[in-house]
Amino acid sequence: METLKEIRLDSLNTDEFIKEQSGHIAASVGSGLTINALSGGVDSAAVTMLGHIAIGARLKTYFIDNGLMRQDEPAKIVSLFKGLGVHVEIVDARDKFLNALSGIADPELKREAITQAFYKDVFGILVRDSSAKFLLQGTILTDIDETVAGIKRQHNVFQQLGIDTQKSFGYKILEPLVQLRKDSVRVLAKALGLPESIYSRPPFPGPALAARIIGEVTHEKLEVVRKATFILEQEFAEIKAFQYMAILHNDRVTGMRDGKRAFGQQIEIRCWDSIDAREAIPTDLPYGLLRKLADKITSEVPGVVSVTYNLATKPPSTIEAV
Ligand code: XMP
Repeated sequence: METLKEIRLDSLNTDEFIKEQSGHIAASVGSGLTINALSGGVDSAAVTMLGHIAIGARLKTYFIDNGLMRQDEPAKIVSLFKGLGVHVEIVDARDKFLNALSGIADPELKREAITQAFYKDVFGILVRDSSAKFLLQGTILTDIDETVAGIKRQHNVFQQLGIDTQKSFGYKILEPLVQLRKDSVRVLAKALGLPESIYSRPPFPGPALAARIIGEVTHEKLEVVRKATFILEQEFAEIKAFQYMAILHNDRVTGMRDGKRAFGQQIEIRCWDSIDAREAIPTDLPYGLLRKLADKITSEVPGVVSVTYNLATKPPSTIEAV
C-alpha cells in the first residue's frame, strides 16, 4: 500500500490541485460512467465539483436519502447544486437503512450496517443499473488516519483496511481528497466555486444522525434527534466553532412534564473548537446561549427532560458519540 503524502494547507495550490486531480479522474475512468454520492457536506460537495470538471455529465451524482439526514436536507442540497449547474438525483433508501440498523446497539456494528447498506445494497444496485465502474468519494486523510489507528471505523475507508471494493461491492473507488484534511478541503471547495454555506459548513459524519443516537436507531429516536439538531443549528448559526451536535442518550432520567413525573429522554450538546478534528476542545460558550437552547429543546422536543453540555476534550473523547 502506498503511503499517502499529506498536502498541508500552506502548500496547497488549488489551481494545480484541481488540474491534477481532475486529470487523474478523467484518465482513470476513461470513456465510462462514474457515480458519486453527494451528502451536502464539504468533502462530498468538493468531490462532486471536481468530478464534474473532470468528466462532466459522465459523472452521475446521487443524493442517497438514508432517512438519517437533517431536516429538509435532500431538497435543500439538490436545489443548491441545481443552481451550480449540477443535476443531482435523490434515491429514497430510507427503509433500507432503517431495516439495516434495526436491533443494533453497538457503535461499530451500527457503522458497519450503514457501510454495508450504503456500499452494497444501495450503491451496488446503482452501479449495476448504470453500468458505472467507479465510485468517486470524498474520503479525507483524517478518515484514514483514525480508521487505521483503530480509533473509529470511518464508514468510507476500505483500501487501508485491505478491503478490495471491486470484490466486495463490484466497483472501484476513486478518492481525490485523500491527501487533504478538512481545512484544506474548505479552501479547495471555495476555489471550486462552491458557496460559503457549503465551504464553511461544519462537518457532518457519513453515518449522519445514526452517529448521534446512543443505542438502537429507530424512527422515533431519529425524529427526536432531528428536531433537537434543527433547534441547535438555528440557535448556534452565528457561533464560530468547528462542529456542534445534539446527541440522544439511551438512558432515561426522571423529569417533570405537565405537573407529573416523567421518565424522559436526555440530549447532550457538544460544540468543538478544532483545526482538523484530530484534537478538539469544547467551545467556551456563553451560559445564556446554552440556557436558551436547553429551554427550546425541552419545550419543543417531546419527551426530552434533560439537556447537558459536554466538557471533555478529544482525546480521550471523540467528536461524535458513536
Ligand atoms: P470523531 O468522532 O472520530 O470524528 O472524533 C472526527 C471527524 O470525523 C467525522 N466523522 C465521520 N465522518 N464518516 C465520516 O464521513 C464517519 O464514519 C465519521 N465518523 C466521524 C466527525 O463528524 C468529525 O468531524
